[in-house]
Amino acid sequence: MGLIIGIESTAHTFSFGAVSSDGSDVLPSSSSLYRPEEGGIHPREAADHHVQSAGDLLRTAMGNWGANKDDIDAIAFSQGPGLGPCLRVGGAVARSMSMALDVPLVGVNHCVAHIEIGRRMTGCDDPILLYVSGGNTQVIARASGRYRVLGETLDIGIGNMLDKFGRSIGIPFPGGPEIERKASRFIQENGSEHLLDLPYAVHGTDMAFSGILGAAIAHAERGEDPGLVCHSLQEVSFASCVEVGERAMALTGKSEILLGGGVACNQRIRTMTSIMAQERGGEAYWPERPLCVDNGTMIAELGRRMLDSGIETIMTNSAIDPSLRTDMTPVIWS
Ligand code: ATP
Ligand code: FE2
Repeated sequence: MGLIIGIESTAHTFSFGAVSSDGSDVLPSSSSLYRPEEGGIHPREAADHHVQSAGDLLRTAMGNWGANKDDIDAIAFSQGPGLGPCLRVGGAVARSMSMALDVPLVGVNHCVAHIEIGRRMTGCDDPILLYVSGGNTQVIARASGRYRVLGETLDIGIGNMLDKFGRSIGIPFPGGPEIERKASRFIQENGSEHLLDLPYAVHGTDMAFSGILGAAIAHAERGEDPGLVCHSLQEVSFASCVEVGERAMALTGKSEILLGGGVACNQRIRTMTSIMAQERGGEAYWPERPLCVDNGTMIAELGRRMLDSGIETIMTNSAIDPSLRTDMTPVIWS
């Protein structure tokens, strides 16, 4: 069994995943999530968490896959974008494994990995990507050998916005899943027609989320039902992403839209995207939840495509790049 191992360490998640070298198998990741005791993510503490988890996680992953070190054909790792101290841990583990096992190393663009695992798992071919995660909110299309960013958030990522709102009403990180639960409980009990007035910020194909965050916190502080605030926050912020996604489909003539990133776990954004796509005669896709959030398997899958296209990262080019952008990576695979 030949395997390509993928190592993810851009932010709060440290994860090992794998795919078979011939592309036939996609193996589950073993992941550990750093959860700050209070406040937002502290990069150095997250990096310490990654260092402490690496050994046990790798042993668990290899055990789950029934693999041993002779099965490893190559090592892929997240080269960027992300938090420097966190990326550095994944880079160091990847370089050490590549050298110790004498197998190729390939540094991958984390954002592009979210796209490629979605294409691999859903079978969609040339989609608009709605990349909705903690740190990123981008609308992306492939054109002239790159994944081009057609629109993006002008301030914070939609997931960070949800996490910050969650924190303000006492929900620990990550806030998104509990906000979804509160919103759906509210709808079950009260119906979906109640909606608070929240700022809706779409500028052409860009979005912004700090205004809606401040307004939602203010509603909660005034004693508004938290379920109603969560429901309204989801409806309005997701609508802005779906509107930009639709504009991108109209502009490019593409008929597929693919959700990726942690917020793509949310059933409501999935439903809204599906309705929009179907109304235009298109189709919406998303991978299963463990492959939406940060995971090593998506890094392995992009690594496989790059290695198959003859791309390998030599040691001297393997430094991490915290500010790598989606459109900086040439895309030469099909
Ligand atoms: P990136 O580096 O790509 O920006 P990330 O570090 O933000 O990724 P992800 O694992 O892709 O990490 O996304 C995490 C985000 O997803 C968190 O903000 C979390 O609240 C959000 N999230 C997870 N599940 C849900 C859900 N069911 N509904 C809404 N948001 C969710
Ligand atoms: Fe991510």
